[in-house]
Amino acid sequence: MKKYDFDTLANRQIDNARKWDQSIVKAKFPNVRKDFIPLWIADMDFQAAPEIRTALSEMSINGAYGYTYPTERWYQSVIDWYKKRHNVVIKKEWITLGYGTVPNMHILVQSFLDANDSILLNTPIYGPFAYAAEHNNRQVITVPLLKHNNRYEIDWVNVERNMKEKHPKATFFCSPHNPSGRIWSKSEIIKMAELCQKYHVLFVSDEVHSEHIIEGTFTSSLEMDSEYMDNLVMFTSPNKAFNLGGLKLSYSIIPNETIRNQFRKQYTKNSVTSPNVPGQIAMTTAYEECDEWLDQCATYIKDNLEITKTYIDKYFEGWKMMEMDSSYLPWIDVSKAKLDMHEIAKIMAEDAGVVVGIGDDYVSDADDFLRLNLGTSHAVIEEAMSRMAKTWQKVIANEMENV
Ligand SMILES: Cc1ncc(COP(=O)(O)O)c(C=O)c1O
Repeated sequence: MKKYDFDTLANRQIDNARKWDQSIVKAKFPNVRKDFIPLWIADMDFQAAPEIRTALSEMSINGAYGYTYPTERWYQSVIDWYKKRHNVVIKKEWITLGYGTVPNMHILVQSFLDANDSILLNTPIYGPFAYAAEHNNRQVITVPLLKHNNRYEIDWVNVERNMKEKHPKATFFCSPHNPSGRIWSKSEIIKMAELCQKYHVLFVSDEVHSEHIIEGTFTSSLEMDSEYMDNLVMFTSPNKAFNLGGLKLSYSIIPNETIRNQFRKQYTKNSVTSPNVPGQIAMTTAYEECDEWLDQCATYIKDNLEITKTYIDKYFEGWKMMEMDSSYLPWIDVSKAKLDMHEIAKIMAEDAGVVVGIGDDYVSDADDFLRLNLGTSHAVIEEAMSRMAKTWQKVIANEMENV
């Protein structure tokens, strides 16, 4: 078996990574240490799979970057991926190529919601879910998730009450959940689908975090019985799994023809036609050839998680990492910490030189949370955790000024 190298990181200056950019980080933390380690924006520092790099090099050297179309091979790669990774059979006509999951959410809102219509979100949730409604002058209904045994649970009574009383047009369901990494069980997914059907709410499932599994088994909404398929829109992309976010490619799977046509109409209105050339090549290669890279990447991240957990348990009084089943983004409850999340993020940037994500970036109910990004080498995670631990020891010992 080929062994992939996750210790050698890409040079993030070459792709102008936002996460590493001095001016972008300084806008958030003006006094950040110059040698900061960014554990915030959710992309990974690993080099993409060598198979993808080879395919992109061939394209690059060939020198033609003109107009293209979604190829048969691309469709087949999606169909095969779902069969081999999720044991789900999907039909070619259900698939629509898109230009990012977040743009797809905006397009969905434009297609299905009239002025004053709303979407329902279980919060906290990834910020752009709300922007899709807000940027289009539509409303957001939030239903806070419940915390039980260090994991989020859906507040079913509250979800049903809101659907019944406020009549949202769609629910944007994050599966697995970002920010906590929680995998929803098949029965939870079906329960949500049932409620959506009962109250005529379109069930929109975002499954971009489904490929990095740490614990348990992911169930796709596409595994539900056919009775639920007529009310389902599934959005995903290879971007989180294979670190291809900058190539701006994604897709939707919509089994119901009427819903699919209504969604596609908005594409036509905006004349969205030719896909991104490197995006299509990278994605096809990822789905055809890079299973093993993905599995090894998930194992590597699991080790980063162990390193992080060990540090947090030992040195970070008042911090508690929520149980996570997927992704590379631990969600840390700091409600019992000595400082609030903004103060912690600030001293970590300034004293430790580690940039962390703050709860503010998520929709509601995240006032006491920080998020880390473990998509980097063991050496970087060791260095970041060790720096943060030293800073936190100073906080606990009241040795920090300006706090
Ligand atoms: C839940 C969720 N959906 C969508 C995205 C973005 O996906 P894409 O790169 O396909 O636009 C992210 C990125 O962090 C995310 O966390």
